Amino acid sequence: MIGLKAVDLKKQKIDTLIVPVCEDKKIHDDRIINAIIKKALSLKEFEAEKGDELTLYDLKDLNTKRVIFAGLGKLKKIDPETLRAFCGAIVKRCIKVDLEVIWVAVPAAHKLKMEMPATVAALMEGACLGNHLFDKYKKEKKKKPLKQINFLVKPDALGKLRRITPKVSTICAGTILAREWISTPSNEKTPEQFTRSIVSQARKHGLKTRVLREKDLKLHKFGALLAVAAGSRSKPSMVILEHKHPNAQKTLALVGKGVTFDSGGLNIKTGGSMASMKSDMSGAAVVAATLITLARLKAKSHVIGAIPIVENMPSGKAIRPGDIVRSYAGKTIEIGNTDAEGRLILVDAMSYVVNKYKPQMMIDLATLTGACVVALGEKIAGVFTQDDELAKLIISSGNKTHERCWQMPMPDDYKELLKSDFADLNNMPSSRWGGAITAALFLSEFRGDTRWAHIDIAGPAYIKKGDAYCGPGGTGFGVRLLCDLIEQL
Ligand code: BES
Ligand code: ZN
Ligand code: ZN
Repeated sequence: MIGLKAVDLKKQKIDTLIVPVCEDKKIHDDRIINAIIKKALSLKEFEAEKGDELTLYDLKDLNTKRVIFAGLGKLKKIDPETLRAFCGAIVKRCIKVDLEVIWVAVPAAHKLKMEMPATVAALMEGACLGNHLFDKYKKEKKKKPLKQINFLVKPDALGKLRRITPKVSTICAGTILAREWISTPSNEKTPEQFTRSIVSQARKHGLKTRVLREKDLKLHKFGALLAVAAGSRSKPSMVILEHKHPNAQKTLALVGKGVTFDSGGLNIKTGGSMASMKSDMSGAAVVAATLITLARLKAKSHVIGAIPIVENMPSGKAIRPGDIVRSYAGKTIEIGNTDAEGRLILVDAMSYVVNKYKPQMMIDLATLTGACVVALGEKIAGVFTQDDELAKLIISSGNKTHERCWQMPMPDDYKELLKSDFADLNNMPSSRWGGAITAALFLSEFRGDTRWAHIDIAGPAYIKKGDAYCGPGGTGFGVRLLCDLIEQL
């Protein structure tokens, strides 16, 4: 779908050529491209401001039908995210007018004060992700993704950039897989169906898989996880995926919240806040998609993915406020609120992974609290850890991939708020303030001695309206971040 090409623009027959243009500096070093840019800028209607666009047809000296000049804005504002957003927006625009193949003239990286691989990768990511449409449930598919997006570079750059195309394609395929899982409606991804889907995709790509089914969960006393699942007609599971490179030294565990629908349980949510709760398995989708991506990339790492999967429903069999359950780790938990279910399934998965696989490091991803969305908005995830070094690594990968994370505090004295009169802990904090922090503190009680970080993705996991390179629905936030992080560890 994406390709890297070096061709002679005078000879190569091209239908649509996209030329990114900077408002205040020359960013290309190809003579022909610079000549046609000069021509475009000589026209009053095009100033190359961000979002500006001009199409010229049958330019002389070129064998190109149409050239779309598109503004990137001022040089000092151009960074990898500008390039991703630029390419995503252009691809979306080309889809709208039914184009099939486009070529993009890649700027000279040194003129952007960037490296060539990072420049090409950013453009390719925006293009790949912007080309994804979730239209499975539309009878009439009005828009079709582009068939081919070629990136035009100098012949001497081809060798160095050879590895970029397959790497970006694979990582974006992972993001798209997570998006599709998240956007799938809950009636088509019951815990049983979601479990099957993960296992079949994972096996297809050569991952080792294990599924703990309801009877195994009962046998091993996953009391907190089973309590959440009790109200649903669907049976819970815990999926374990493993990617192991023979040279890997350390083990990383990823844990992902897999609530296929969160009604709130008996503490039922109201209409507005329940509407997007099919996305409450985003952490699970991101962890599964990351493991599949690592397998496809043959990453030099050892990563365990632990994915607890349940549906949170009210019924005659559901857990009640006031119930006390015993977690896998043995700690008892009073259910103060059945809508604080994420932490219940996560702590059982975390203690199981620590006990069974003894990882050197563990990271969980979860759409855990509305409070985190209040604190950081819909585009930034919260990072909670007592390990500042690990937080730095996560935040740095997030900055690179523009899956932004912000470190939040974990004050010991807030643990007070999780006390129960009758059990070891209460899943509902006694204060309504600082809900993202108390949720993270609850999880921290189950990490043992393992280096651990929690990423609350309740904000960025799902968007109601699309943006530059993501349509409405699941965003796949976290797949690119985790792939980058694992490469750095
Ligand atoms: N799944 C929700 C959190 C959520 C909210 C995700 C908004 C995405 C968008 C979670 O299970 C939940 O309901 N949390 C409660 C916790 C409270 C009862 C302690 C919340 O945030 O209100
Ligand atoms: Zn909930
Ligand atoms: Zn939830």
